[in-house]
Amino acid sequence: MPQRIDQLQSDASADLSAVATPEQLEAFRIKYLGTKGALKSLMSLLKEVPKDQKREFGQRANALRQQMQESFEQKKQSLGGDAKPQAASKPLLDVTEPGAPPKLGRQHIITQTVDELIEVFGRMGFDAVTGPEVEDEHHNFVALNIPQQHPARDPLDNFYLTDPDGDNPLLMRSQTSTVQIRVMENTKPPIRIVSTGRVYRPDEHDATHYSMFHQIEGLYVDRKVSMTDLKTTLMQFAHAYWGKDADVKLVPSYFPFTEPSAELYVKMDLGKGVDWMEVGGCGMVDPAVFEAVGYDPEEWTGFAFGLGIERLAMRKYDIRDIRWLFENDVRFLRQF
Ligand code: DAH
Repeated sequence: MPQRIDQLQSDASADLSAVATPEQLEAFRIKYLGTKGALKSLMSLLKEVPKDQKREFGQRANALRQQMQESFEQKKQSLGGDAKPQAASKPLLDVTEPGAPPKLGRQHIITQTVDELIEVFGRMGFDAVTGPEVEDEHHNFVALNIPQQHPARDPLDNFYLTDPDGDNPLLMRSQTSTVQIRVMENTKPPIRIVSTGRVYRPDEHDATHYSMFHQIEGLYVDRKVSMTDLKTTLMQFAHAYWGKDADVKLVPSYFPFTEPSAELYVKMDLGKGVDWMEVGGCGMVDPAVFEAVGYDPEEWTGFAFGLGIERLAMRKYDIRDIRWLFENDVRFLRQF
């Protein structure tokens, strides 16, 4: 009988040292420590042990059980915990648990605004076109009736790319009105277009100015276009884009490429109370501009406008500082 105990002890310790996975450890537990395991059958031999040896056998068997239990626990720790089959333990994956929503990016609010503006003007019959950001003086100034001495042409107020005193120098466009010229140079009237894109001016940055911003330019050329058409178009746009309750007004102004000219204002709060904010210029296309592109000013009439897209969006979304749009802080951008 004592040999049975010795045998079991050496078998068990050999088996246990070969265990390398929780599954193997579980098989070990069933084989030796389980309800039908080797220890149990060893104990059941006790009744066959001669009376005078019972006491010693019992003590040795108990000692073996304790020792096996301890080695088992140690092994369990070293394998990283419970060796019970998965079904009996906490599920590793609860497939009914709602997943973590994937973080989606989104379009920048200015991109979204450009799309919406094109859509709104599209409904009014305007086609969307684009033009280059690097322009020549002819399209940025000359054809727009802006004379050489005009302050808008001051090299300090523009980003010139080539010598400003050279022949038709290049610059980053300061306005999208350049696209009016490009379209009229290549198209016969009637024309009804809008053009969106970036413009560049070395302005000092503040809550409403930035050295790069976006404009939407509109141009409508046909016979007998009137100032009433211009005003109706801009007011309809303003109320379609901002809502019926938006407070807007046109104020007489001056631009070399329109006559008469006006500026569009909208009431909004920039943090210092509600006040009028200028959002762009407009007017009836000056006959000198028609002549520059080869249209007969006696036959054709038209209106044009150029609006600052950032300011349009600022009024719509109550954004009180243009600089926030370009800081790329996702906590701000995520709101739109
Ligand atoms: N280009 C002007 C600016 O950037 C805005 C403007 C005014 C555009 C009158 C126009 C216009 O088309 O007719 O300040």
